[in-house]
Amino acid sequence: MFKFNFDIDENSKRECSNEKQDDINVSNQEFGCFYLNDLQNEDAEHGRNKFDSYTSDLVPNVYEGGFKTWECSHDLVAYLSSIVSNFQEMTTVIELGCGSGLPGLELNKHRRFHVDFQDFNREVVEQTGKQLKSEEENYNNRMFFGDWGDLVNVIPSKHYDIILTSETIYNIGNYRKLVQLFDHCLKAQGVIYLAAKIYYFGVQGGVRQFEEFINKTGLFNIRVVRVIDANVKREILAIKRSAC
Ligand SMILES: C[S@@+](CC[C@H](N)C(=O)[O-])C[C@H]1O[C@@H](n2cnc3c(N)ncnc32)[C@H](O)[C@@H]1O
Repeated sequence: MFKFNFDIDENSKRECSNEKQDDINVSNQEFGCFYLNDLQNEDAEHGRNKFDSYTSDLVPNVYEGGFKTWECSHDLVAYLSSIVSNFQEMTTVIELGCGSGLPGLELNKHRRFHVDFQDFNREVVEQTGKQLKSEEENYNNRMFFGDWGDLVNVIPSKHYDIILTSETIYNIGNYRKLVQLFDHCLKAQGVIYLAAKIYYFGVQGGVRQFEEFINKTGLFNIRVVRVIDANVKREILAIKRSAC
């Protein structure tokens, strides 16, 4: 079976810490967490200007497209609306690579979900947080920012019933750290809903490539739960831990 080349301490719950561990791959991206209660409106106002000079949707490892709302996040919102009544218990959720965070915001409308958010850029989660603050009164959501490879040190382990993620598998080079983060923070009986295009032109990732990668790990089983047969084909996957 495929194995990550380092082990994760399953008991580590260094929530909202900014410490690095020596054995984790190091990126230059700042990473950490804040509680939405602590977000000042002016933080969210100014952050976006930093990215105004970029003419591209994505600047790899600098800005990963979080200020734009991508197609698959609408697909995921529609899918979640169709299954939301299946979840009766209090349910912990995190949206990874949230950008504007539409799927997470959708679940957050229902009281039984506690939703946290993560994006590569702090400025992006600040903006998403501002949106969230305008929709609810009590906002104790956690907002994580930084590279997935660094966030295994910050996001609590085995904590989430549901992981949401949309348009985050375009870069094959990130599959290992994304799957590692799934494994780190998903509860034993949890489920990941992943929305993506079948193929990302120019960057080579896509649903079948991601499936192949995940199958090699032996950690998860994948089921296609919705196909969107548009010009650029898209799918939604439900991913669960494989039985030991
Ligand atoms: C194309 S955007 C999609 C945004 C949003 N989910 C949507 O569908 O509208 C890709 C998102 O993946 C996240 N991302 C990409 N690479 C990442 C990395 N190495 N570490 C953490 N987040 C990453 C970024 O947060 C970015 O917002």
